Amino acid sequence: MVILGIETSCDETGVAILKDSLLAANVIASQEDIHAVYGGIVPELASRAHCSRIDRLWQLALQKSRLKPESIQAIGVTSEPGLKGSLLVGVCFAAALAYALNVPLYTVNHLHAHLAASFLHPQLSFPCLGLVVSGGHTSFFFLPDKIHLRLIGQTLDDACGETFDKVARMLNLTYPGGPEIEKLAKTGDPFRYHFPRALLSSNSLNFSFSGLKTALLYHIKKYGQKDLPDICASFQKTVGDILVEKIRRALVRFPVKSFLFGGGVIRNRYLAGRITRFLKKEGVKPFVPPASLCLDNGAMVAILTAALIESGVKSSSDKITVVPTKQ
Ligand code: KG4
Ligand code: ZN
Repeated sequence: MVILGIETSCDETGVAILKDSLLAANVIASQEDIHAVYGGIVPELASRAHCSRIDRLWQLALQKSRLKPESIQAIGVTSEPGLKGSLLVGVCFAAALAYALNVPLYTVNHLHAHLAASFLHPQLSFPCLGLVVSGGHTSFFFLPDKIHLRLIGQTLDDACGETFDKVARMLNLTYPGGPEIEKLAKTGDPFRYHFPRALLSSNSLNFSFSGLKTALLYHIKKYGQKDLPDICASFQKTVGDILVEKIRRALVRFPVKSFLFGGGVIRNRYLAGRITRFLKKEGVKPFVPPASLCLDNGAMVAILTAALIESGVKSSSDKITVVPTKQ
């Protein structure tokens, strides 16, 4: 079966073609350069960039896959959560294409799609747990199977990637801040500074990063930015401590054998390394997608769409809804 996946929920335009469980194309246009000068995503600029790029990306995906438009048998598109204007570009494009090609359209949840990035892995077993750590989300899920998703914890304030981006801005580093902090942290001492770990009540699976962000702000106000690598390494270690502790708690309540990850933050090699070492010690298999499937992309949408079709889920063609993130 040939499935087209379209992703435009935030600041990456992604189009991918999945053919018989193999990725025939996965093209992504990042908007990092557009938003970098503002230190964060400007929603109106994001939707305009999706608008001007999506058709070219669809053509490019066809070219790379060497397939004709008529080969597409189903289309999946992200319809929630995300920026309203950005979601609308992808959903309208996908709906028009589905109508023109006379194929079913499936709308999918962006966070579910992030976790679906590992669904093609032959060693994955269900039930499993999933953690999405990105610029917009820090959400924990229990997955009894590929198509059901139960939210078991989430951030009460800033997302994990957002915290990296905000701390980076305080340190005059460029957007997105995660990779910049990781680079500097490599030569720093992670034990130099102690920043607070908001772990909330003893068995809570929720997250809170705003206190950590404020602690960094006070630290910089008091001591300035000297020993930048040590600040970055200590901050990164604190985030690692929080994530590992929450994962430990989740495993007590949901003793699963597989753990899925998704979102840009898991590209951080220090964090991914610590988390995977911890899981392996606990006898749990971690599934961290390759870099191209960690960031927002169309492939994860196509993979989830394939799982929905396999499970007999009805297409969304009759009722297309877009559910943006609440502001
Ligand atoms: O999943 P993603 O591409 O987009 C969202 O859906 O948000 O994630 C982007 C986020 C940004 O906040 C970025 O700073 C963070 O992922 N990120 C990282 C790293 N690479 C990207 N955070 C920490 N370390 C990294 N190496
Ligand atoms: Zn994302």
